[in-house]
Amino acid sequence: MITRQRPEVDFRKEIVRLKGELNAVILAHFYQESEIQDLADYIGDSLELARRAAETKADVIVFAGVHFMAETAKILNPEKQVLLPDLQAGCSLAEGCPASTFMAMRAQHPDHVSITYINCSAEVKAASDIICTSSSAEKIIRQIPPEKPIFFAPDKNLGQYLIRKTGRDMLLWEGSCVVHETFSQQKILALQHEFPDAELIAHPECEEPILERASFIGSTSALLKHVQSSPATSFIVATEPGIIHQMKKASPSKKYIPAPPEANCACNECPYMKLNTLEKLYLCMKNRAPEITMEASLRERALLPIRRMLEMS
Ligand code: 13P
Ligand code: SF4
Repeated sequence: MITRQRPEVDFRKEIVRLKGELNAVILAHFYQESEIQDLADYIGDSLELARRAAETKADVIVFAGVHFMAETAKILNPEKQVLLPDLQAGCSLAEGCPASTFMAMRAQHPDHVSITYINCSAEVKAASDIICTSSSAEKIIRQIPPEKPIFFAPDKNLGQYLIRKTGRDMLLWEGSCVVHETFSQQKILALQHEFPDAELIAHPECEEPILERASFIGSTSALLKHVQSSPATSFIVATEPGIIHQMKKASPSKKYIPAPPEANCACNECPYMKLNTLEKLYLCMKNRAPEITMEASLRERALLPIRRMLEMS
């Protein structure tokens, strides 16, 4: 019997070639696999990637991230083709915030300004007043007149952190990130005992007991900047471990310990982000699909609160 071998495809080489052929830009989030980060034109946190998407001159945006990020890029660039390697790459925060329930909540609190975390669907964005990211939320909240009540969705952990930070009471949606809620307080305590000089650094999507112990809290980009400027030489990193790739590149002599999850699993890795692989990245560029598409009326309604975020950040 003759078995026919599939010709080997050099994904890296092909992705670089297709990038030129399509006049494409590859935007990648820090939680992507290292090999994808290394091929990207820009790597960043949610706000930086939205800014890059708004400014790009490329004809095609290849978004190595999750659905709400690619959708934001499409809203900012209706005339461009936006590709996402895997359309199933969602987000637990976006999934836990259906537009119909969100709109019902808004209707119950018509006097509230709604500030919504970018980790949500285009429908929820369209029904919000202002969008924010973890790096811009505090600045945006401080610009809302003090007498105006605020409704913050969908991340309750980020919301509670912002309440403590700004002293501003807010009505919160009950959502959370499956990754940032997985970290074990006990195991982190044990690590701090074992490595007393290590700084605990955390993303604000983590639960309060973790944030309380952290010596620095910030968005993925802020965490990356912090490890470079801090005199500490070792860090316990309480966010998705994909970011450690850039930390090692930026400050290779320092030690990075991923904060462990409660169970003996890899559940500190974002299951949605990790759906994207190098092969899917290649295939989406080769096939120019899956593509993000959206009705013009939805796109136009979602644009205004995103524009407000970019102006207020
Ligand atoms: P930032 O990159 O904005 O810090 O957000 C983290 C995140 O969970 C993205 O989904
Ligand atoms: Fe969503 Fe959490 Fe994954 Fe970020 S890490 S994309 S918030 S599920």
